[in-house]
Amino acid sequence: MRTIASIVLLFCIAQPANAETGHELWLRIHGVDPVKVICSGNSPTLSIAVRELEQGWGGEAGASVVLAVKPDKSIKGDGYRLTASGVQANTELGILYGVYEMLRRQQTGQPNRETVSNPSYERRVLNHWDNPDGSVERGYAGRSIFWRGGDDSLVVTEKDRALWLEYARANASIGINGSVLNNVNASPQILSKQYLARVKEIADILRPYGIKTYLSVKFSSPSLLGGLKTSDPLDPQTVQWWEAKVKEIYSLIPGFGGFLVKANSEGQPGPQDYGRTHADGANMMADALKPYGGIVMWRAFVYRSEDKDRARQAYSEFMPLDGKFRDNVIIQVKNGPVDFQPREPFSPLFGAMKKTSVMPELQITQEYLGQSMQLVFLAPMWEECLKSDTYQEGPGSTVARSTDGSLFQQKHTAIAGVANIGLDANWCGHHFAQANWYAFGRLAWNNGLSSEKIADEWIRLTFAPNEKEPAAESKSAGWVGSLLIPVKEMMLQSREAAVNYMMPLGLHHIFAGNHHYGPGPWFAPKGIRSDWTSPYYHQADKDGIGFDRTRRGSNAVIQYHEPLASQFNDPTTCPEIYLLWFHHLPWTYKTKSGRTLWDELCYRYDTGVQQVRRFQKIWDRVEPHVDAQRFGEVQSKLRRHYRDAQIWKDACLLYFQQFSRLPIPYDIERPVNDLEDLMRIDLKLSHHN
Ligand code: GCU
Repeated sequence: MRTIASIVLLFCIAQPANAETGHELWLRIHGVDPVKVICSGNSPTLSIAVRELEQGWGGEAGASVVLAVKPDKSIKGDGYRLTASGVQANTELGILYGVYEMLRRQQTGQPNRETVSNPSYERRVLNHWDNPDGSVERGYAGRSIFWRGGDDSLVVTEKDRALWLEYARANASIGINGSVLNNVNASPQILSKQYLARVKEIADILRPYGIKTYLSVKFSSPSLLGGLKTSDPLDPQTVQWWEAKVKEIYSLIPGFGGFLVKANSEGQPGPQDYGRTHADGANMMADALKPYGGIVMWRAFVYRSEDKDRARQAYSEFMPLDGKFRDNVIIQVKNGPVDFQPREPFSPLFGAMKKTSVMPELQITQEYLGQSMQLVFLAPMWEECLKSDTYQEGPGSTVARSTDGSLFQQKHTAIAGVANIGLDANWCGHHFAQANWYAFGRLAWNNGLSSEKIADEWIRLTFAPNEKEPAAESKSAGWVGSLLIPVKEMMLQSREAAVNYMMPLGLHHIFAGNHHYGPGPWFAPKGIRSDWTSPYYHQADKDGIGFDRTRRGSNAVIQYHEPLASQFNDPTTCPEIYLLWFHHLPWTYKTKSGRTLWDELCYRYDTGVQQVRRFQKIWDRVEPHVDAQRFGEVQSKLRRHYRDAQIWKDACLLYFQQFSRLPIPYDIERPVNDLEDLMRIDLKLSHHN
């Protein structure tokens, strides 16, 4: 414990006084009042709980707090009970989570009422898409915090340890209890002796904070790393190789969580290469992990170029396997059927696989939502998915309930978020992207929380003036009305704004190139597979726009339970937010507003741009209430955000106008860029250079 304390101290010293880099995340407020902590035991985890209380106490000065590990039937897993006198839990981690909640309540001004809080999911896991050379796939916040290239790539420094410790603490404070340390496009190297030694170092730091370590593994590792002739999951030598590897891992890393696997997807190897099924592959690994309590998170992100509709494929491939997986396999399903788009309907696999554990995979890193340039708060998107009714077990069978064990018997429950963390001083590239990390943790703990509550908490923790600091009074005057309320409104609208200026009314995947930042509805280089081009998704022609997934089209609607299948199939009952996801409609089709489809598209694009314009004003007004550094950095990003929203609108409207041949309604702002120029520039590169 002493090492950990000295690491924390070392790090605090390394930070220049009053630096407002955002590095402290939502853990900025330090208490100054004394507190007496009475704790029933002694362990690394309990010591952290005690120290957090002593350093962060914001309650009555001199109060006593009792931390008691004591069995209680109403508390589940690592849940806790907050009482007037302290925290009670079945496990030490429950105590730690209860302590963080107690402090959060103090810091956000919520009363400390007696409550029991149990986690919605047993495993709340970050997926890092970090490569051994230190690059991060779809990472926009600098290089990896775990890996680096070069000669000293495997040397563990004090600085590494200090950072991993802060990372562990931040995660524990919001209930995250697992980290997959490397990219799903996994390098076989990660399972080598040298790399496992570093994994062990990381795991040792994460453990006291309750964070289990997991690894992404490449299916063909037995051949690539072990030199075997095959990686066929039914081959005895392959089985033995994995058994031995798992044994080696557990001897180094007690409590190791298990494997995450991307197989037979986007060029990754998998059991199908050997004529076997996903179940054969997953079960083989699950059997190796079982004796140690490990699990396999097997991804359902699969699509082949031959199929006519990418949105149908995960369901078609995985449904026939329902009931064929071991109970320590969880199928990891992206929230939507295509790929983390600004808006998708929920994946039809949720609730449909009734005899298999299924876990949602959300993307915290904003690959398709403005990366770290744009202010987009993702909680509303995740809330929309989790609250979607699948109807699989009658009304009320939400995605949340069909994955958290409320509807189906599941040995394990879990949820994953693709991390947005890197070496940038503020961890996430954009100060507001921290809110997405925070929101993931909070929703993983309680999948019924509202985005409003999460935003409220996060703003208070991140921007509230520290009232205990001298001379803070003037700063805090009017803080709620001047900052909290408008900034919360901005956050809550930001995802809808992004949908509006990028791809409203159910449009999807019309990005430029493969960096997924700027617009590229025209993107269709010769020779590339068609499901990697934009026209595949928007299908614009002189008659109309949209992907026909109705019974007359690809019939993807059939994968949804009634009444959804019929509702989605009919454009008059299909929610307008999904209109062009399910329908190809004429440009003159009448939408609910009474406008033609073309006019409605124009209005939505324009509204999105105006929304970002408003965000700029909201932010400029909060200047007196925010430190200069964070204020300036967000202000500058919002300027770029606005310019790029304008480019999205101009590019999409001018491109689609070539097909609609209709005027942009005269009461909205005209495009300010020419289509030819927009088709030439690479928006992402133009910013980075
Ligand atoms: C997206 C993303 C890839 C990633 C893949 C996945 O397609 O662009 O970078 O590897 O998802 O989730 O496996």
